[in-house]
Amino acid sequence: MTVTTDTFIRAELISFAQDPGNGNAPEPGSLVHYADGLLWLKGQHIHALGDFAELSPSLAENAGVLDYRGKLIMPGFIDTHVHYVQLDIMASYGRQLLDWLNDYTFPEECRFANHAHAVALSNAFLDEMLRAGTTTAQVFGSSHPNSVDAFFTACQTRNLRMLAGKVLMDRNAPQGLLDGASGIADTERLIEDWHGRERLGYSVTPRFAPTSTKAQMDAAGALLRNDSSLWLQTHLAENSGELDWVAELFPGSRDYLAVYEEAGLVGPRSTFAHGIHLDNGMRKRLADRGASIAFCPSSNLFLGSGLFDRDAANEIGMAYSYATDIGAGTDLSGFGTLKSAYQVGQLRGQPLTAWQGFYGLTHGNAKALSLHSHIGQLAPSFDADFVVIDPCSTPLLSRRIDHCTTLGERLFALMMLADDRAIYETWAGGQCQHRRDNI
Ligand code: GUN
Ligand code: ZN
Repeated sequence: MTVTTDTFIRAELISFAQDPGNGNAPEPGSLVHYADGLLWLKGQHIHALGDFAELSPSLAENAGVLDYRGKLIMPGFIDTHVHYVQLDIMASYGRQLLDWLNDYTFPEECRFANHAHAVALSNAFLDEMLRAGTTTAQVFGSSHPNSVDAFFTACQTRNLRMLAGKVLMDRNAPQGLLDGASGIADTERLIEDWHGRERLGYSVTPRFAPTSTKAQMDAAGALLRNDSSLWLQTHLAENSGELDWVAELFPGSRDYLAVYEEAGLVGPRSTFAHGIHLDNGMRKRLADRGASIAFCPSSNLFLGSGLFDRDAANEIGMAYSYATDIGAGTDLSGFGTLKSAYQVGQLRGQPLTAWQGFYGLTHGNAKALSLHSHIGQLAPSFDADFVVIDPCSTPLLSRRIDHCTTLGERLFALMMLADDRAIYETWAGGQCQHRRDNI
């Protein structure tokens, strides 16, 4: 008989049961908030939560309660688009997308042919993710299959819910990264070994249209047709030079999105990073297929790619999520991603509320990845994946939080001023996987 352990944590609890809407206050019924709450875990799952005074009488007399009063618990942050293999080239100076790929990214990814390197970077990356409060991500490996074996093995050790895939690329890159005919066979082997194993899922990963032949993209589409439980991740319409190149490479396709549509890559489990340079017709086609865009604000600002149009997406009903896109992104933190999203929004006259931001980072991102029955909320039966936030982690943040009178103000101050120092603990699968060093 397996024994499931009970864990009780007393803290302020914040979660979103639904989209809070775009107003200054959350839509009724969307926000779940207990100022003095109790979170009750049973093994890997959340068993119950509620007001401490109401729930605590039902606990056994000797139940040990972790007292985190003064701290705030939210669902673990989710990153819908990130390249673990680019951790070491973050902040490489001054290029737009295509030069940045050639000068920094491709040479770096060549190093992942070495398994020991892939193992070391998988662990370094997961340490950083957990330090930032991120418990789930959709992750690009390199084109080497062992990069994904190393990554999933490291996730398994920490019992994390993660999606990942080996990059498919068979042209227009250095020889050391091109996979040719073995790309699809290696993908099939990785799916067999990892997809659906424990908390892991496989994302079929053609890098982007310029580095895959039509034949490779068609074969990727066949994998998806064969198994509707697989995910798909790639890039779309990030940079104007990229758009010109795609038009040149695929003269028969009516636009960039059509290249992916023709290969059968656009479906409800497809995530397209960026989607900056889209027209409303393309947004509608994505919406009709239930596909989503990963908005990567710090990356878009870093590479000068452009300003994602959230209002256009909302008007058309095209789903989007929030992502770091490390190594073009400049911040692993969910707080930092929201801060950049707010800044992009300001430049477009579309400011982002803290309600939208934190809903997006948790429940919204889970929904975009079709993982919303497992993660993204503090709710009974959900995975016990959450962050314990210390809102007074720095003298400045502490002063600012002291000045706030409402929850909305406090969340907005966190979104603009907090960083990984505010992540006191990160829990995954009912276990504390990261505790901040004393600061
Ligand atoms: N487009 C194709 N590959 C990449 C990548 O690695 N990063 C970004 N930001 N865009 C891409
Ligand atoms: Zn990317």
